[in-house]
Amino acid sequence: MLATIIAIVLLTALVVLYIHNRRQTTHTILRNFPIIGYFRYFAETLGEYMRQYQYLPDWSERPFNRLERSWVYRSAKGVSNLRSFGSENVPPFIFRNAAFPILDEEKRPWTGKQIGIAEGPGACRMPYTAMSFFNISGMSYGALSHAAVSALSRGAKIANIWMATGEGGLAPNHLEGGCDIVMQMGTAKYGVRDAEGNLSEDKLRAIAAYDQVRMFEVKLAQGAKPGKGGILPGVKVTQKIADIRGIPVGQDSISPNRHKDIGNVRELGAFVNRVRTITGKPVGVKFVAGDPTFLDDWFTECLARPEGCPDYIHVDGGEGGSGAAPASLMDYVGMPITLALPQVTAARERHGLTDRIRIIAAGKLITPDKVAWALCMGADFVSSARGFMFSLGCIQAMKCASGKCPTGVTSSEERLIAGLDPTDKATRVARYAARIRDDVDTIAHSCGLNDPGGFLPRHVTEIERGVGGFRAPQAGD
Ligand SMILES: Cc1cc2nc3c(=O)[nH]c(=O)nc-3n(C[C@H](O)[C@H](O)[C@H](O)COP(=O)(O)O)c2cc1C
Repeated sequence: MLATIIAIVLLTALVVLYIHNRRQTTHTILRNFPIIGYFRYFAETLGEYMRQYQYLPDWSERPFNRLERSWVYRSAKGVSNLRSFGSENVPPFIFRNAAFPILDEEKRPWTGKQIGIAEGPGACRMPYTAMSFFNISGMSYGALSHAAVSALSRGAKIANIWMATGEGGLAPNHLEGGCDIVMQMGTAKYGVRDAEGNLSEDKLRAIAAYDQVRMFEVKLAQGAKPGKGGILPGVKVTQKIADIRGIPVGQDSISPNRHKDIGNVRELGAFVNRVRTITGKPVGVKFVAGDPTFLDDWFTECLARPEGCPDYIHVDGGEGGSGAAPASLMDYVGMPITLALPQVTAARERHGLTDRIRIIAAGKLITPDKVAWALCMGADFVSSARGFMFSLGCIQAMKCASGKCPTGVTSSEERLIAGLDPTDKATRVARYAARIRDDVDTIAHSCGLNDPGGFLPRHVTEIERGVGGFRAPQAGD
C-alpha cells in the first residue's frame, strides 16, 4: 500500500514537473526534454566539483572550450563573469596595459563608423553608420530555425547591432525585430535570383526598398568551406524555406562553387558597382584569405576603377563555422584569422585604401579578448556567428546539418524549435553583445585608451609563436 502511495506521489511529481518545464521559456533543454534534461544541469554542476579529478579540462573542448562557452552563457544570462583564485586560461597573446589607466570620467563611448562614401566614384546614396563594432555574422534562414532568426533579429534591435542574413535570402523573421540588416548574396543568389539563377534586378530593388536593409554583401566564400557553395541538406528544406529560396521542398539546396558571373577582380568590381548602383546602399565582399596575390590584384583594380571598390571587406578565418561543410575544407583550407587579418589590413594600407574600405573580421572571435585583438590588428568591426548561437542556448551538440539540434537553434523539427522562446533569447542576445562591448572597453581603458577606437597593434603582444599563432607587433607599428 505504502509503495503504491509513494509511486503515485512520485508519478504526480514527475507529471507536474513535466508540465511546468514544457511551459517555462527560460531553459530550452528542459522545455524540449522536461525530465532527462535535468541530467545536463546535474552533470554540469558536478563537473565544477570534479574539476580537479576530471580528464577533460575546461580548455580542451573544440571548437570552443568550456571557458569560452561559459563566458558567453554567463554574459547572455546577465550573470557575473568575475573569477576567483586565478586564471585557467593560457592565452596566446596579452594586451600591454598602461601604467596609468583611464579614469572613469575620461572614458568615451565608441561613436560609430560610417560604411560607404557619399561622394566620388563608388559613392552610394545611403551610406550607413554602424553604431556597434560587434555584430551578427550571416547564418542562413534554413541553417538556423525561424525561432532563432526571430530571437537574433529582436536581440539585435535591443543591442543596436546589425544582423547579416546569410545566403538563404531575406525572411520575415529577419525583419520582425526591426534591426539593421545586411542582405547577403551567396553564389546561388537566393532571394534575388531569377529562374536561371542569375541576379534579378527587380528582386534586388525590392529588397533594397526596405529601410531596415542597410547594406549588401557579396559572398565569395566563408571560412569553413572556401570554394564550396552553401549546403542545406534536403531534410531541412521545409515548405517555408523552399518558398524563400525559390527551390523544391525536401531536396538538397546546393549553391554553385562560385558566382558564375564573377571569375576575376574586374568582374567582381563590376558586380559590386552594379549592386551599389541599383540599391544605393553600401556593398561589401565576404572572402577567405588564401591566394597571396589576390589582395594586391584586387586593391590595384579598386584604384584603377574606383566605381567597383567595395565599401567593406569581410574576412572570414578558415576556422569559421558552418551548418554543413566537407571536413577536408573545414580542416585544411583557408587561412586562420590570426594570419589573415594582419595581412589584409597591411595590404589595405599599402594601397592607401584604409579610409575607403572598412574591414570586418570573423573567425572564433567570440570573447572580448579576441574582439579587442582584432581591433588592435586594424579591423573596424568584428562579427560572430557561433558566439550568438551560444547566446541563444546552443550547447555545441554539432548536429546542425541533421535538423535535430536539441536546443532549437538549428533544428528543422517544430517540436524542438518550440523550446526556443524568441522573447527570452532576444534579451540574451542583446546582453551578450553589450557585455562584449563593455569588456572590450575595459581592456581599452586598461591600455590607457579612452575608447576601443584607439587600439593599435602595439597594444597587444604575442606569447606563443608559430603557424596559426597571433601576430607579434612589427617594426613601425
Ligand atoms: C550555422 C551556421 C550557418 C552559417 N551560414 C553562413 C551563410 O549563410 N553565409 C556566410 O557567409 N557564412 C555563414 N556562416 C559563417 C559565419 O557567418 C561566420 O563567418 C563564421 O562562422 C565565423 O564566425 P564565428 O567563428 O563567430 O562562428 C555560417 C556559420 C554557421 C555556424
